[in-house]
Amino acid sequence: MPPSPTLPDFDLVIFGGTGDLAKRKLLPALLQRFLAGQVGPGSRVIGAARDTLGAANYRQKVAESVAGPASDVPGDRLAEFLEIVDYVAVDVASDSGWADLKARLDARPDRVRIFYLAIGPGLFAPACERLHQYGLDGPLSRVVVEKPIGHDLASARQTNATLAAVFSEAQTFRIDHYLGKETVQNLIALRFGNALFEPLWNAARIDHVQITVAEELGLAGRAGYYDTAGALRDMVQNHMLQLLCFVAMEPPYSMDADVVRDEKLKVLRALRPIRGDDVRHYTVRGQYRRGVASSGAVPGYTDELGAEQSRTETFVAIRAEVANWRWAGVPFYLRTGKRLPQRVSEIVVSFQPVRHSLFGAAAGPLTPNKLIIRLQPDEGVRLGLMIKEPGPGGLRLRRTSLDMSFANAFAGQRQPDAYERLLMDVVRGNPTLFMRRDEVEAAWAWIDPILSAWAQDSEPPRPYTAGTWGPSAAIALVERDGRTWHEELEDLP
Ligand code: BG6
Repeated sequence: MPPSPTLPDFDLVIFGGTGDLAKRKLLPALLQRFLAGQVGPGSRVIGAARDTLGAANYRQKVAESVAGPASDVPGDRLAEFLEIVDYVAVDVASDSGWADLKARLDARPDRVRIFYLAIGPGLFAPACERLHQYGLDGPLSRVVVEKPIGHDLASARQTNATLAAVFSEAQTFRIDHYLGKETVQNLIALRFGNALFEPLWNAARIDHVQITVAEELGLAGRAGYYDTAGALRDMVQNHMLQLLCFVAMEPPYSMDADVVRDEKLKVLRALRPIRGDDVRHYTVRGQYRRGVASSGAVPGYTDELGAEQSRTETFVAIRAEVANWRWAGVPFYLRTGKRLPQRVSEIVVSFQPVRHSLFGAAAGPLTPNKLIIRLQPDEGVRLGLMIKEPGPGGLRLRRTSLDMSFANAFAGQRQPDAYERLLMDVVRGNPTLFMRRDEVEAAWAWIDPILSAWAQDSEPPRPYTAGTWGPSAAIALVERDGRTWHEELEDLP
C-alpha cells in the first residue's frame, strides 16, 4: 500500500475511553494509523471517562487492549504510540474534570479537536452542553457519534437537534462503520469507475438484488442494548439501508460529500413505504431457538438473555422496492440475523435471463448472470457467467464465475479496519462516508411504520433454529416471487 501522508497534528478525545468500543475498535485503529505514519507523534489521543485512573494506568490498559490485534507490533513502536495517549477523568454529566480537559486542549488551540462520543446516547446532550459551556465547540472542533441515533424517527430528530444545538452539520460525523469497509467503497469504484455495469444497472436488465448480512454470533455480551433494539434497528436502519443506497443511487456528479449524500438521500426517500397490512406481507421477523453453530451447541435467544420471553427480533427479511424510474418493480431483498450458519455479508445483483435461448434442452438450463459483491469474509467480486463445457460432442453450457478475490489481487497488503479510514476522514474533515442528518431521518421514516405494525402484531417473532438461515417464512418471502436466496455453493462452482 502506498504510504499515507502524515496528517497535521490533532487532538482526539474519546469520551467512554475505557469502554468496549474504544478498546476493541478505536484504539487499535489509531495504533495502526500511527504505525503507518499517518498519525504523527505530535497528535494526542485523550481517553476520557469517569474512572479516576492516572495516565500511566490508562496507557497500561490501552497496551493490553491493543495487544491482541497488534501482537506483531514491535515493543518500541507500541511504546511510541502510548506516548501520544493520555487520560483525563471527566464526568460528562457533571462539571467534574472539565476544567482539566479544557486546560489540556487549550494548550494547543490551533489544531483540529475531535470529540468521539463513545457513550450512551442519553449522555450526548450533557456532553454537548458542557463542550459548549467550556468553549470547546470552536470551528476546529468535530463531534463523532455512533448509532443508535434514536430508536425511532422522533427520538432520532431529538438526538440530531441536541447535536445541532452545539455543532454545525459540517462538524458532525455520524459513523456507520459499514461505510468504512473497503468493499462498500469499492461499490462506488465498480459502478462508476467502469463503463461495463452502468448501462445494465436498471430495471430493464436487473431482475432483483439481494443484500445479506449474516452473523454467526449471538448476543456477544450485548444483551442489555440488543434486547431494546432488535435486528431492524441494529442492522437494517443503518448498515443495510446504506448498502442499498450505494447499489441503487444515481451517479453523483462528483465525489463531494454532499453530492454523494444527496443521491443516497433520494434513494431513501424513494423507498416504497411498507405499512399496515403490507408489513406482514413484505417483512419477516424471527428469533433464534437453541441449535448448533460451528462452535457446537448454542442456547436460544431468551436463554442467552436470561429472560422468560422477549419479542425482540434477531432476524429480519424484507422485500423492499425503490419506487423510481430506474428501479420500479425490482425487488431488493434484505436479510440479516444473528446465529445464522456463517458470517457473511454480500450483495447479489441478479440480471434478467437472456431474451431468447439458442440452445436446446441438451445444453442444460441457462442461469441468469449474477454479480456478487462480497463484503466479508474473503472480500471480492464475482461475476457468474455461462460458458461452454469443455470437450467435443454437443454444446453443453455450464455456470462458472469470473472471480476477483481482493486477498489474491492485493496479496501481502493488510486490509485496514473500517475505523482506520473513518477516523482519518474525521481528522481530514471529509464527511462523505458519514451519514447526514437528513439521511438518518429518512431511514427512520421508512423503518417507523414497520416497527409500529410489529408492535401491534399479536404474533411474536417466528422461531428459527440457531445455525439455520432463519424462519421458513423468509424463504417463502423470496420463493413466492419465483426466486431463491443466493447460496454460494449451489449457485456457483
Ligand atoms: C454493529 C451491530 O453495528 O454491527 C452488531 O450493532 C453487529 O450487532 C455488527 O454484530 C456487525 O459488524 P461487522 O463489521 O462485524 O459486520
